[in-house]
Amino acid sequence: MKCRRCGGRAVLELRRHNTAFCADDFLAFFRNQVHETIRRWGMLTRDEPVLVAVSGGKDSLALWDVLLEAGYATTGLYIDLGIFDYSRESKARCQAFAAGRGARLLVVSVADEVGAGIPQVKAVTRRPTCSACGLSKRYIMNRAALDHGFAVVATGHNLDDEAATLFGSTLRWDESSLARQTPVLAATHPKLVRRVKPLFRLSERETAAYAFLRGIDYIVEECPFAKGATSIAHKEVLNRLEDVSPGAKASFLLNYLERARPRFQAGDPVELRECARCGQTTTGEVCAFCKLADQVRRSGAAAVAAAVEAEADDAALRGLASDVGAASEIHAS
Ligand code: AMP
Ligand code: FES
Ligand code: ZN
Repeated sequence: MKCRRCGGRAVLELRRHNTAFCADDFLAFFRNQVHETIRRWGMLTRDEPVLVAVSGGKDSLALWDVLLEAGYATTGLYIDLGIFDYSRESKARCQAFAAGRGARLLVVSVADEVGAGIPQVKAVTRRPTCSACGLSKRYIMNRAALDHGFAVVATGHNLDDEAATLFGSTLRWDESSLARQTPVLAATHPKLVRRVKPLFRLSERETAAYAFLRGIDYIVEECPFAKGATSIAHKEVLNRLEDVSPGAKASFLLNYLERARPRFQAGDPVELRECARCGQTTTGEVCAFCKLADQVRRSGAAAVAAAVEAEADDAALRGLASDVGAASEIHAS
């Protein structure tokens, strides 16, 4: 297989683009896709400092790498979820990445903010883990950005993430989440910062290839509470479609954004006000994050510890679920 640009040995075939690239030309293609996305969607400006939310995984570290290389004024934000070895190792990856490039990394711990880490929160609230976790991440990203004077947060959501979210929302015809599905969430309130997803047109396989070829040391394991079975099932269904019809994922997402999304945007925008406790935005009196922290506090330390112990072994086992498949494909090529 030959590189379509230079005729050298190709390391990666991109069926949906009907092309193949050598390492250097793939890296150039990847960067170009990111910069085109940023420009076309008006995500970032050159002189605006950007907070990059990094999980230690391939996507967000690849994004940070591209932005740093292009000279954006970036600071990383790592949110320590307190999820056993998974959090320790992912934090170490982010710290090593930042140190290696002389970049600044902010670390905020969920336990400091909510009174307990995500495993405890999961045990106490009996909510699906990812809902409390997602809520905490969005809240902390926004607050850290405001506290440190950033008007924009960039996340590493890729094409597979976004297509799977859209697929889930479509199966439920969930109009409000369909309306919110966009690679640029505008700041609709002075206490909200813009959220952008510059990798949303690049697949998971492509971000894994980029990270590998750039020698980025990222955490391969998924979170042990891996994402509820449904979102994984949605990704699998989309991968099967992609196999028989390369480009199906991108077409599903991009055509939605272009043609269908405007139809879901009508209706009254919700009125946002400031949380009576913390001052962040909410539709009610007290925001969901403050309520979550209250619930954890009320449950008491002993109950939390007992509940976590029961969870720990199980979670450690599930931590073995990983994207080894995607990575080994690249490593082998
Ligand atoms: P996920 O929700 O795990 O699919 O992650 C989507 C994006 O959210 C990542 O690409 C990161 O940009 C961001 N993110 C996830 N986990 C963290 C974390 N612990 N700290 C900071 N950012 C995160
Ligand atoms: Fe949030 Fe796994 S990363 S529950
Ligand atoms: Zn609040």
